[in-house]
Amino acid sequence: MCGIVGYIGSKSAGEVILDGLHRLEYRGYDSAGIAVVLNGKLEIRRSVGKLNQLNKVLESRPLKGSIGIGHTRWATHGRPCEENAHPHTDCKDKIVVVHNGIIENYLELKNKLISGGHRFKSETDTEIIVHLIEKHFSGNLLNATQKALSEVRGAYALGVICTDDPDHIIAARQDAPLIIGLGEDENFIASDIPALLPYTRKMIFLEEGDIAELRRNKVRIFDKKKKEVKRQVKNITWDRVQAEKGGFKHFMLKEIYEQPQAIRETFLGRLNPEKGVTYLKEEIKIADSFLKSMSKIYIVACGTSYHAGLVGKFLFENLSLIPAEVDIASEFRYRCPVLDRNALTIIISQSGETADTIAALRLAKKNKCNTLAICNVMGSTASREADNVLYTRCGPEIGVASTKAFTGQLTVLYLLALDWAIKRKTLTAKKRKEIIDNFWEVPSKVSEILKKDKEISSLAKEFTAKRDFLYLGRNLNYPIALEGALKLKEISYIHAEGYPAGEMKHGPIALIDEDMPVMVIATRSKIYEKVLSNIEEARARGGTIIALATEGDKEIKAKTEHQIYLPHLDELFSPLLNVIPMQLFAYYMAVFLGCDVDQPRNLAKSVTVE
Ligand code: G6P
Repeated sequence: MCGIVGYIGSKSAGEVILDGLHRLEYRGYDSAGIAVVLNGKLEIRRSVGKLNQLNKVLESRPLKGSIGIGHTRWATHGRPCEENAHPHTDCKDKIVVVHNGIIENYLELKNKLISGGHRFKSETDTEIIVHLIEKHFSGNLLNATQKALSEVRGAYALGVICTDDPDHIIAARQDAPLIIGLGEDENFIASDIPALLPYTRKMIFLEEGDIAELRRNKVRIFDKKKKEVKRQVKNITWDRVQAEKGGFKHFMLKEIYEQPQAIRETFLGRLNPEKGVTYLKEEIKIADSFLKSMSKIYIVACGTSYHAGLVGKFLFENLSLIPAEVDIASEFRYRCPVLDRNALTIIISQSGETADTIAALRLAKKNKCNTLAICNVMGSTASREADNVLYTRCGPEIGVASTKAFTGQLTVLYLLALDWAIKRKTLTAKKRKEIIDNFWEVPSKVSEILKKDKEISSLAKEFTAKRDFLYLGRNLNYPIALEGALKLKEISYIHAEGYPAGEMKHGPIALIDEDMPVMVIATRSKIYEKVLSNIEEARARGGTIIALATEGDKEIKAKTEHQIYLPHLDELFSPLLNVIPMQLFAYYMAVFLGCDVDQPRNLAKSVTVE
């Protein structure tokens, strides 16, 4: 999730863009850059680090010119460094591009472009776009961009300018947000509303596949079929803080809603639906021979990341047939784990800075154990110290209670388990295809669940007086019961306990009465009948049941007081769907109880002390 700003008019483009980028810094901040066209030449300034670094560069080398594009980066392909910072130029430094998103087929395109004589200067997927435009350019930037994008698969929001066809900016969007701001004799592009609020409140939200041509006094928009279209102009009345939250009341809610995009971006370019394979070998260097002989996987993490690890264990054991253990990082060091060269330690951390998790990573390294980090923050301690790193591509997570980072971590774990299953030949070709087909459906199913927002909020309202909750799940949904309970505890300060449904009879059942509601994950699965029996046991003790059930399940309606129906998807992917209503439920409970959702008491986003 990066931020883009573009400007064409009579003001200093550099100043307007820098100001806009500051307002988008919440989208990413590992490097930034601006390009303007001046007297038929491109002038570019870039720097690593937060935007104040770019400020310093611009103070010593100011930019003149009144047409330009800029970018603040949250790295996905390629480390945070100046060469990988946007904007990126073609071979002749005439065309320049800023991009937010992931180009899925970038390797294939990059190889073709290199054989065609193009020279690459960065490790980014973005750079292929500018070379593709260069390949198609014969005087008309709009045509060249349209042709280039027809070769690209993936998600993008783009801004393009060119010295040989100046006086306009080309903008395009596909599965990544981009808006146009309309001014008086000036126009703008931006990834998000806050960037443009000081300049205009008249905005157009581009639709999927749209390409726009912006001049100072005119904006034309073309749809997927290259047909010129009119898009509605909206008048934005939000203030800046509302706008940063995308109009949502809290960052947490915004981040819950960003999950379809975060999941999609995390697997784009790593999973090929047609060929039924993954492309992880481009990112992690773990020898096939090691994968085949690996004795065990240790997964180590804290908090929500630990819950993702518990799902990971299930996936590695069931798909890749590798024994796996999961440890809470603060316990790992003190139990003398048997670490050796044949084992792999996977640490999972959104921030990559959690002290206990880093200590576990160091212990594994000291014992010559191979290490892999799953992180969201590029350049974090964990990502630098681990032998290998695989990033979730969720963008900055601001709400203290983790939501989109969790589903991003699950997505990476599915990718790894699938990749290693393919390499270890533990899946039939048919099963592999089936899994990949289901994987692709996850983002749209998550979007469907988000439409139940109102229903879940009304349900939460009925339970605000309760002080204790029990969350039950089984098998690969037991970790989701733990995560649902943790979300409720963290933000609403209501006591909640996650338990394996089958284990309830060995203790927690004693607690159940009319004051202790029970949230049960009862979506369709191989052990559905067993979960139904657990529901009966809880009801017999006077418990009020809220069931997560699969659409069309009539049986559950007769057995429970409340149901949240979820779309059907293969049971394997149910954790990615089932956690969503739990996040929403906890969120609304906290809102109704007047709690500080984004910054709950006593908690910190990143715990850097042991
Ligand atoms: C804190 C946060 C949690 C997070 C945990 C682990 O407790 O409040 O939301 O799950 O740390 O953080 P990490 O960055 O290592 O995933």
